[in-house]
Amino acid sequence: MRINKGDTVIDLGCGEGSITIPLSKKVKFVTAVDSSKRMLEILDEKCRAENIDNIKTIKENLEDVTLKEVGKQDIVLLSRSINGISPIKDTINNVNNIADKYVYITIFGPENWKFENDFYESIGKEKNDFAPYNYLFNILISMNIYPNIENLEIKTNRKYKSVQDAIDNGKWQLNNFTEEEKEELYKYLEKNLRKNNEGMLENPNDKADWILIWWKK
Ligand SMILES: C[S@@+](CC[C@H](N)C(=O)[O-])C[C@H]1O[C@@H](n2cnc3c(N)ncnc32)[C@H](O)[C@@H]1O
Repeated sequence: MRINKGDTVIDLGCGEGSITIPLSKKVKFVTAVDSSKRMLEILDEKCRAENIDNIKTIKENLEDVTLKEVGKQDIVLLSRSINGISPIKDTINNVNNIADKYVYITIFGPENWKFENDFYESIGKEKNDFAPYNYLFNILISMNIYPNIENLEIKTNRKYKSVQDAIDNGKWQLNNFTEEEKEELYKYLEKNLRKNNEGMLENPNDKADWILIWWKK
């Protein structure tokens, strides 16, 4: 990211602050917005533990954040938080109005769900995917925004302590599965996760795929 010590940033869909916190050490101030109270509680706890005093948290849906409420920000960041947001055009328009210098968006890429897709295929179940990133690209072009696109090429696989840990990590949306399908999932993970030399379980198809989409105002 092109950032300066004096910049203000708004991080929309900040989660527990995996980007917010390192970013706060490189800029003047970060406004961190998330719709999840729990995520913001964790972020606030981390800030207290690290004595960070330049992050303010707001619990709100990112599509409802207005320029009037937060004022102009040098940089707007939406990291992995707009894959399913609707209405997307209004949200982008709003975000673009808030940003003074740059907008940075990361969105899941096509490889992100390879491991999950293989499982769905193996049990003959249909999977509802988010719109791929080329949709967002086309929408931006239709709004006369001409972004840069980069594949972040994250090389590391996800790692789990156990099969149960892999099931519980939040990717599997277990409420979509019947008890029988959950048993199938356990077997699939048992079969397809291999121990690495650190004793952790992983699979080469199970890694994050992030696409970075950014533009200068
Ligand atoms: C995958 S996490 C990404 C967290 C962080 N930005 C990162 O990249 O590590 C997605 C976050 O977006 C939040 N989120 C999802 N939809 C949202 C919405 N409509 N408004 C605000 N936050 C939202 C979720 O609560 C979650 O914390």
